[in-house]
Amino acid sequence: MLKERRDVLLPESYKRRKIEEMEERVREIKAALGKALFIPGHHYQKDEVIKFADATGDSLQLAQICAQNKDAEHIVFCGVHFMAETADILTGVKQYVYLPDMRAGCSMADMANIFQTERAWNHLQQFFDDTIIPLTYVNSTAAIKAFVGRHKGATVTSSNAHLMVKWAFRQKERILFLPDQHLGRNTAFDLGIPLSQMAIWDPVKDELVYEGNLDEVKVILWKGHCSVHVNFTIQNVQSVRQHYPNMRVIVHPECHHDVVALADHNGSTKYIIETIEQAPPGSEWAIGTEMNLVNRLIASHPDKKIISLNPHMCPCLTMNRIDLPHLLWNLEKIVLNDPINRIQVDEKTAQEAITALERMFKV
Ligand code: 13P
Ligand code: SF4
Repeated sequence: MLKERRDVLLPESYKRRKIEEMEERVREIKAALGKALFIPGHHYQKDEVIKFADATGDSLQLAQICAQNKDAEHIVFCGVHFMAETADILTGVKQYVYLPDMRAGCSMADMANIFQTERAWNHLQQFFDDTIIPLTYVNSTAAIKAFVGRHKGATVTSSNAHLMVKWAFRQKERILFLPDQHLGRNTAFDLGIPLSQMAIWDPVKDELVYEGNLDEVKVILWKGHCSVHVNFTIQNVQSVRQHYPNMRVIVHPECHHDVVALADHNGSTKYIIETIEQAPPGSEWAIGTEMNLVNRLIASHPDKKIISLNPHMCPCLTMNRIDLPHLLWNLEKIVLNDPINRIQVDEKTAQEAITALERMFKV
């Protein structure tokens, strides 16, 4: 039986250790544990952490990679809380998932809790009867994924949102899309649903925001957003157009609809990376996504001119909580057989959430 502890704060001693010494120790532990240790790293992680990742990817890729891994007893997830929960749901009972810093949450996932969601569902059933299917972006808690699984819905990522929205409309007349209104709006709009047929559910006021005939509503968007991607504005796009006439603008669909509409390309993290990789030398790009990734793309493509769409952008603060000292602390505790910060989703929630995830994998 694995001992469990949740130590929120990094011991002071780690703050005094030298970078080279910490890096060497991470390498030693990785070599000693071999395949029993697996470190997945999301593309938005810092370089100091990404350099030790055994696999990097966007949220869909990392979920798939963790589901396929049958060897690792210890999965130290370098990403945010909902991703580690998904990894725990998709891995075996003898595989333990950890988050190096428990404060690495996601403000978007925090914008939909299960109590708000149950309340919203009751209201919406009164308005629309049994005509709604719920879809949740994977950027949501395990409890929300379980809710969606219970109600015959599925999870979605930014890489497969179009497919999943089409799938959902084959099941029911209307969609409730949680928790990111922007991904929901941008995806539905691309698929031909006019903004006039999209309502917003406000979970704070318990209120459906819609002007018009409710029969017309096709998509109900949860009023949540990514605190990083909403910082790209139409003024940013206009400024790029003015100063760099040859520059292409590429953004993540978590950005506002008017920003996505003005951009030349929009797509998931994976799509953005692949588009830049395949672009010809000398091409110019303004990228609207998380800053650690933009900086990495700038560094790895010196033959292209790349800038952030918003020159004053910061990295995702919660992704950034995972740093070299926290990674090493987590690894050293595993080696001492005194692991910390394990992420464990209870059996019932995991079972229901898995049905939502599996519907997505099947589609
Ligand atoms: P993807 O990894 O699905 O592109 O999601 C972006 C994101 O905001 C992750 O937190
Ligand atoms: Fe959450 Fe946005 Fe940060 Fe992703 S980038 S973890 S969605 S706040």
